[in-house]
Amino acid sequence: MGKVIIFDTTLRDGEQAAGGSMNLGEKLEIARQLEKLGVDVIEAGFPISSPGDFESVKLIAQEVRGSIICGLARANPDDVDRAWEAIKDAAHPRIHVFVSSSDIHLMHGMKKTREEILQLTRDMVARARSYTDDIEFSPMDASRTEPAYLYQILQVAIEAGATTLNIPDTVGYSIPEEFGGLIENIYQNVPRISELIVSMHCHNDLGLAVANSLEAVRKGCRQVECTINGIGERAGNASLEEIVMAIKTRSDFFNLNTDIDTRQIYKTSRMVSEITGFSVQPNKAIVGANAFRHESGIHQDGVIKMPITFEIMDPKTVGIPSSSLVLGKLSGRHALRERLAELGYGLEDEDFNRVFRAFKDLADKKKEVADRDIESLVAEEQRTVSEVYHLDRIQISCGDRGIPTASVIMTSPDGQALADAALGSGPVDAAFKAIDKIVKVPNTLTEFNIKSITEGIDAIGEVLCRIESDSVTYTGRGADTDIIVASAKAYVNALNRLLATKKKAE
Ligand code: KIV
Ligand code: ZN
Repeated sequence: MGKVIIFDTTLRDGEQAAGGSMNLGEKLEIARQLEKLGVDVIEAGFPISSPGDFESVKLIAQEVRGSIICGLARANPDDVDRAWEAIKDAAHPRIHVFVSSSDIHLMHGMKKTREEILQLTRDMVARARSYTDDIEFSPMDASRTEPAYLYQILQVAIEAGATTLNIPDTVGYSIPEEFGGLIENIYQNVPRISELIVSMHCHNDLGLAVANSLEAVRKGCRQVECTINGIGERAGNASLEEIVMAIKTRSDFFNLNTDIDTRQIYKTSRMVSEITGFSVQPNKAIVGANAFRHESGIHQDGVIKMPITFEIMDPKTVGIPSSSLVLGKLSGRHALRERLAELGYGLEDEDFNRVFRAFKDLADKKKEVADRDIESLVAEEQRTVSEVYHLDRIQISCGDRGIPTASVIMTSPDGQALADAALGSGPVDAAFKAIDKIVKVPNTLTEFNIKSITEGIDAIGEVLCRIESDSVTYTGRGADTDIIVASAKAYVNALNRLLATKKKAE
């Protein structure tokens, strides 16, 4: 079987999703998990785009040794040099040079002629190649580029030293048969192309990113560019988990494989969702909450008799644990440790002790503690570790008679206990106003969402809030069985991110 290279761009194109920005620590955490997942290439960022991006690509290049670390660059000298500066410490560095190739982009965006673009490609691929011999080239908007010109630009890139040629369907415009035809024609019309790796990069504007990618694989592409949970610009990118599981589940059809450890898929999906604040829709293939749930009697009966009747994949192959053991208030440290290990968490003693205390508190309020509750507890503990301000106590009075009132006690960065109170139009508004009186950072609340983690009246409520300051969005999350407490935690989490970013910029 031939191998398909998995190129993950969650940290670059995924982060370009509106509201999806991540901080340095979060990017490193995801990069480490991608390495564990067995991703071949991690596109860690776009180094020239901001000092923060440069720093995170550099750190990932230094810390993550098992995958190729790729930095993105437009076709200009400063971009290429900056990308190299960021990735040069990697065990396996790659520079990814891209330039627009469609007439639509050339005319309205770049304002350059086709000849000028060919020259830029020649010079910038060669410049990148002078730094390292792993060079990827992408003609942006390839699927809307005139084919003859596309073959020409690809040929120039090959002659200048590119080793991977990536064909982006930048605006998600292609239809599978058409995209497969384009790949076939590229193979037939570009000399020496079969000596290189041909890749594709599909966006999901028409919901066809995965279908287009798989068709390109069928026509000979051996690298797929994708993101965890399919996050990315606009409607997103092709989803890694769907592509990998299609190739694995239908190996009879594709006769191909990948090096992905599929048992890490679920954990990676949860981590990316948790960090970006983008929930995974319940019916999402592979990683959605309903992906392996059977509701109708006929289906349930079939699965009990023989899972293969209605299950084409074993949930364990994507790392969804089989929860035979129910945790509750009588469960001890050993049982929790085992369940955490099954869920893919190996916590240090100190972290484990905090999670265990939170688990015991929760088990006092809730009869059965589900896996999703445990994941939420771990995430909550991890959020607490990187705090600037800490929410110690919150007290609310509300109802349909009086004015909603909140009082809060918080610990400041220098360890002082600070208390304040505020009135609001509702309990959440009052809580946020009381917190604002202490933290004092101007911002606008742009999104506020509550969802319950599991079913039942005693479920943990998880709150996501996004705030904006100086045109940058910060996402905060908080979880608690009390939704007002969860809301206050989420708001403090978002403020802490804002403060940490501002401090760094200073
Ligand atoms: O969608 C696109 O064309 C891209 C390129 C930078 C590869 O993201
Ligand atoms: Zn893209």
